[in-house]
Amino acid sequence: MNAEVLPWAARTKGLVGSIIDSSTSLLQRQTHDIVSFAMGSPAAEAVPSEDFSEIYSSVLANNGAGVFAYGATEGETALRDELLAYLETTPERTSAERLLITSGGMQGLDLAGKLFVDPGDLVIVEAPTYTNGSATLLAYGADIVEAPIDDDGLIVETLPELVQKAGRRPKAIYVIPNFQNPTGTAMSLKRRLLLLALAREWRSIIIDDDPYGMLRFDGRHIPGFRELGGGDPLVFSVRTFSKILAPGLRVGWVDADPAIVEKLIDAKQTMDTCTNVPNQLLSAEFLRRGGLEPHLDRLRREYQKRMRAMQTSLENHFSGVATWTHPQGGFFLWLTFGDNVDTSKLFDVAVQNGVAFIPGRAFSVTGQFGNALRLCFASQTPERTELGISRLAEALKAL
Ligand SMILES: Cc1ncc(COP(=O)(O)O)c(C=O)c1O
Repeated sequence: MNAEVLPWAARTKGLVGSIIDSSTSLLQRQTHDIVSFAMGSPAAEAVPSEDFSEIYSSVLANNGAGVFAYGATEGETALRDELLAYLETTPERTSAERLLITSGGMQGLDLAGKLFVDPGDLVIVEAPTYTNGSATLLAYGADIVEAPIDDDGLIVETLPELVQKAGRRPKAIYVIPNFQNPTGTAMSLKRRLLLLALAREWRSIIIDDDPYGMLRFDGRHIPGFRELGGGDPLVFSVRTFSKILAPGLRVGWVDADPAIVEKLIDAKQTMDTCTNVPNQLLSAEFLRRGGLEPHLDRLRREYQKRMRAMQTSLENHFSGVATWTHPQGGFFLWLTFGDNVDTSKLFDVAVQNGVAFIPGRAFSVTGQFGNALRLCFASQTPERTELGISRLAEALKAL
């Protein structure tokens, strides 16, 4: 059937999908060995799957059929209570009326778009930025303006000029302040404070997307927007268990002003009624047993080791050929070649050679960064990382 004759909604023009997510299925179809630095997945061995299966059994035994009933839209009480208690021990302490449990971080981003972005609204994003985040905003018709970043994160100082050029205030500013996806850089305190001041001047929502903040393995904590904002309704914080527990759980949360949370509940009810109940109860029990903090400690140590291994492999194979970032936490680093290298072309050769990454263009709505690529250092052991980076160097030679 010719799809053009279908009565599409105008908004389908903004549905661009995600090259990152599509690469998962492409890589799953390959039958040869591939060292994948592509997906932002926790290391398979970093997921506490034995604890999970034991906890699932006890959750089933203790809750009976209730495990499979519809849950409250705002989230299961057990998880909300445990999460609040855990956050109390961190700089992100919050309160029950500010909390909504979501189906992963992606739903938090989608809800932000649903509540705050009308077609044609100006939204500022980092360049490069997380593809699914910008794709979500595009799906709501955002008019996206990209602002540059450097080693201190979003160059907030450039925003007034961009806004002046656009001739209207931004409705929202989408930022990933810690160990940004895809570059791994963190926004400096000075810039966070400046961004908050500008958002207040423009009455813009700061979509504060921070899945990696708890995974700092080097350097000192930088206060986040949640802390700096002191409960300012303009700060909309999106969080997830995907990177610190497991992405397949699809459990995350939003921390926002109570008036916003009321609207979020209405909006979530038209999406999925409630977040997966068994996985909420699993996460709650994991937290109740005090498992999260020791688990995070292990992850931080392991990811620090893996990041350093990747730095060493890059020095061995790419010194003088490329430059790269030096993250103090999270999952990713960003590799930049000279202008003569096209990483979208390199991708095909690399996959044949047994290594995968995400090409830089995927992280820009205007197709910038054709000579850069994102590497996830978290999913591979140091030995596999060395193998993968050496295959990447061979692929570059072959190209
Ligand atoms: C910056 C950022 N935001 C949101 C998400 C989505 O998180 P989730 O898998 O919980 O939907 C990711 C996952 O890669 C991410 O890197």
